[in-house]
Amino acid sequence: MKEYNVAVVGATGLVGQKMLQVLEEENFPVANLYPMASYRSAGKKIQFKGKDYEVEELTENSFDKPIDIALFSAGASTSKKFAPIAAEKGVIVIDNSSAWRMDEDVPLVVPEVNPDDLKEHKNIIANPNCSTIQAVVTLKPIYDNYGLKRVIYTTMQAVSGSGQKGVEDLQRGDQGGENEFYPYQISHNVIPHIDDFLEDGYTKEEMKMVNETRKILNNNRIGITATTTRVPVFYGHSEAINIETEKPFNIDDIRTILSKSPGIVVQDDPQNNIYPVAINSEGSNDTFVGRIREDMSAPNALNLWCVSDNSRKGAAANAVQIAKKLDEMDLIK
Ligand SMILES: NC(=O)c1ccc[n+]([C@@H]2O[C@H](COP(=O)([O-])OP(=O)(O)OC[C@H]3O[C@@H](n4cnc5c(N)ncnc54)[C@H](OP(=O)(O)O)[C@@H]3O)[C@@H](O)[C@H]2O)c1
Repeated sequence: MKEYNVAVVGATGLVGQKMLQVLEEENFPVANLYPMASYRSAGKKIQFKGKDYEVEELTENSFDKPIDIALFSAGASTSKKFAPIAAEKGVIVIDNSSAWRMDEDVPLVVPEVNPDDLKEHKNIIANPNCSTIQAVVTLKPIYDNYGLKRVIYTTMQAVSGSGQKGVEDLQRGDQGGENEFYPYQISHNVIPHIDDFLEDGYTKEEMKMVNETRKILNNNRIGITATTTRVPVFYGHSEAINIETEKPFNIDDIRTILSKSPGIVVQDDPQNNIYPVAINSEGSNDTFVGRIREDMSAPNALNLWCVSDNSRKGAAANAVQIAKKLDEMDLIK
């Protein structure tokens, strides 16, 4: 079995820590590990497979070492600057930030959905936005069988999607403290605002869902709109998705198709209170789907509810699964 030298950039962050955990759980063949972060964390110790590693400061020389894969989760500006430096030196970058997702030369990949796009990689591969990943895992089997005409997303996103600062703001609010990160108190609240507002009234997060879904499904004709909200949940994004298909369907067939699809667990027995809830998704790499029902207000339309741990399938697990897929497809040179 081949082994790889792996760098984790942002190793001290919420997603970086989860990446280390998932690399270990998935037994990814790591020969040498290079944890990196900013100067603030340089010299700190992190643990991997029971061993201590010292965090090094990310600099322009960090990739002079023989590194095969770098998992980046240190924000868009860091990726914008350092991913090309790494790629130039032959490192395959799997980037969690929004920096490269819509770049024509960068595949945007969810392994269950569009693994073949990896074949076109030029050393930078983007991990989609967390709310997009669980949505496309759910939409793909429906798309393949019935086509997609229109999709309406409404999300309820966990605070861990904002990193450590989001988690701390909810903890503080729960103890009666003031908000320091979100524009309003997040404890006991719902905030219809994720990422910056654009001139047309949408947020960047909403447009990420629209544009990334189209890129991953390789179809710009699907009508897509989104409303994204932040809710007082630590882990697990929930999404209500309204879908109009091109072809007619039988709702029981949709349930069967979803239950046989990779990465999906159908939990849909409402009479017995069985449906996905955020708290139960924590720690899993799967996407949970339930409340699957016809939308009576339009032809060929349905509603469903989909939940996944944003820090795992929405970030760290998807990135590690991309690395595993690259290995399987013999695309790591
Ligand atoms: N949280 C999620 O669910 C999620 C989902 C998908 C994508 N993402 C993306 O993943 C990235 C990280 O998110 P997070 O939630 O893990 O944030 P976080 O908890 O705030 O962690 C940020 C990490 O980036 C490092 N960092 C910051 N500036 C740096 C620099 N100039 N050079 C090197 N390292 C630097 C930090 O290191 P220090 O310890 O030195 O500060 C820390 O390790 C973001 O781009 C985010 O959009 C997050």
